Amino acid sequence: MLGYRPNGIARSLVLKTTHTIALLLPDITNPFFPSLVKGVQLLANERGYLVLLCSTLGDEKSEEEYLKLLRTKQVDGIVAVGLVLHRRQIERLAAGGIPFVSLDRNIDLPGAPLVQVNHRQSAMLATQHLLALGHRSIVHITGPLGLRVSRERLAGYLAALARAHVKPDRRLRIAGDFTEDSGYGDIERLLAESVSFTAVFAANDLSAIGVMAALKRHGRRVPEDVSVVGFDDIHLAAYTSPPLTTIQQPTFEMGRSATQILIDAIEHSPRRSRATKTVFDGKLIVRGSTQPLRSG
Ligand code: RIB
Repeated sequence: MLGYRPNGIARSLVLKTTHTIALLLPDITNPFFPSLVKGVQLLANERGYLVLLCSTLGDEKSEEEYLKLLRTKQVDGIVAVGLVLHRRQIERLAAGGIPFVSLDRNIDLPGAPLVQVNHRQSAMLATQHLLALGHRSIVHITGPLGLRVSRERLAGYLAALARAHVKPDRRLRIAGDFTEDSGYGDIERLLAESVSFTAVFAANDLSAIGVMAALKRHGRRVPEDVSVVGFDDIHLAAYTSPPLTTIQQPTFEMGRSATQILIDAIEHSPRRSRATKTVFDGKLIVRGSTQPLRSG
C-alpha cells in the first residue's frame, strides 16, 4: 500500500461537498434527544455522510457561533432542533442558502422543511385519556411557552377540555420549562395554595417525573390520589414508580426522516428546498401512573 490518504479539503473543493451535515440541539442533557440523534446519525452514515453534533443550549450567541463555524467547515446541510435566531440572522449566518431541515421544534426559516410529531393532537390524546378515566380537575404543566411546541400542547389540552364541555380553570394551567424541578415546584405551589385536582398532564416526561416526586413528598399517592401523564416516552418512563403513562414520540423515525429530506435536498436541489411538513402521530402508552377517578 502506498499509504495514500486523500486530502479532505482538496476532495471537497473538487467535489464541492464535504459529505458532512450538522445537527444543532438545544439541550443534550434531556434524554429525549439521544434517540433523535441516533436516527439522524444512522441515516446519514447509510448515505455516506458524517454528522457534526452541536449543543447550542438554546442560546442565541451560541447558535450564531455554531452557524459561523459550520459555514467555514462548509458542511453540506443542517438539521436544527429549534433555533432562537430570527430569519434574517439565520440567512446572514448560513450564507449561500445552505439547506436546513427543522426537526421537532420549529425554526424561523420559511423555506425549511419541518419534521415533528403532531404536538396538539398528541396533547389532546393525553388529556382525553384522563377525561375518559373520569377526571375533570386536570392540571397542565406547560413547556417553555416561548416554544411553539409548548403552545401547541397547551392548545391540545384546552381543546380536549372544550370537547368534553369541561370549563378550563386558569389555576390549573401552570408555566413549566420541561425540567423535573419545574414539575416539582409547580405541584408544591398548587398544594400550598390548597388547589384541588385529581390529575396532571405534564408537557414532557422530565416534568412529569418532578410532579410525581412532589406528590409523593407531600403524601399524595400516584395514581390512587392523583393520576399523572407525561409526553415523550423517554426510556426512563417505563421504570419510574409507578411507571409513567405518556405520549410516545417516534423520535428515531423522525430523526431518519429529517435526515433523508436534508440529504435529498443536498444532492438534488440544494437551492430550492421546499417547505414540506412531515407530521408523525404520537401514541398513548398507558402505564401505572393513571387510574379511574375514585368516588368521594
Ligand atoms: O423533553 C423535551 C421536549 O422538547 C420534548 O417534548 C421534545 O418535543 C422537545 O422539543
